[in-house]
Amino acid sequence: MVSLLGAGGFGKVYLVRHKASGKVYALKVMQKKAVLRRKDVKAAHTERNILAMLTSSPLRGDNAPFIVRLHCCWQCPRRLYLLMDYAAGGELLHHLRRERMLSEAAARFYLAEMVLALEHLQARHIIHRDLKPSNLLLDAAGHIVLCDFGLSTVLLDGASRTHSWCGTEDFLAPEVVAREGHGVEADWFSLGGIAFEMMTGEPPFSPASERHLARKELHRRILRCKPKLPRYLTRDAHALLKALLTRDPAARLTDPAVVKRHPFFRGIDWEALAARQLPPPIT
Ligand code: ADE
Repeated sequence: MVSLLGAGGFGKVYLVRHKASGKVYALKVMQKKAVLRRKDVKAAHTERNILAMLTSSPLRGDNAPFIVRLHCCWQCPRRLYLLMDYAAGGELLHHLRRERMLSEAAARFYLAEMVLALEHLQARHIIHRDLKPSNLLLDAAGHIVLCDFGLSTVLLDGASRTHSWCGTEDFLAPEVVAREGHGVEADWFSLGGIAFEMMTGEPPFSPASERHLARKELHRRILRCKPKLPRYLTRDAHALLKALLTRDPAARLTDPAVVKRHPFFRGIDWEALAARQLPPPIT
């Protein structure tokens, strides 16, 4: 073990070094007792299964784009372990807070990598369900690494909706708040929330001046209010945010092919992006 990278209700993430090769990894350690106490058994299984499916199956090859890679997992009588790639660039949120907000060009780069990650998940009927800036890490080169699949779900047997949910509130889609059942569309709404925060410095429904907004009021706003789009954003940014933050999931922008053709992403070479050939913004 080299150092502690993070801790939460789920357990702890350590930076570890493989002695023989000198390579470093992130090791997520969950106490079985805590998992059981928090009734998180399903979450622990899901995270392992989804990451394993995305990163170790022959289907994956080496190209699950911008999604953390799981190398192996094991358990001892008291703990569960997930050995993942170490995202050396840290949380995107940290860079966002430092800069207060990102230029549209920088936001475009990170959002485009996220679009490829979501396209990959959507093709496999996986909903991440907890998309938020703190789950977006950067690798050493500055590319996005999407983490934390503890709240994800796979829509089984062609089902396109699930009713259970338990994620972070700021970036929740209205259909999740209303418990109407939600599908992959919910992740695109959350991406809209993340895009909003990247380009304005604040989440869409709870500005910094109202940090401790009551949960009920936050839900009311998600269900009833349209986020105020600042005038300094370009017309293309407005259009993208409006399309992703559309309340009705059926009318929302959720088709990855259409998202990629959106004017906000004009000029992005998607193949080069997927091949990690586009240079990350300097932050
Ligand atoms: N924190 C949680 N997961 C991590 C990872 N894979 N790399 C770096 N920090 C992390």
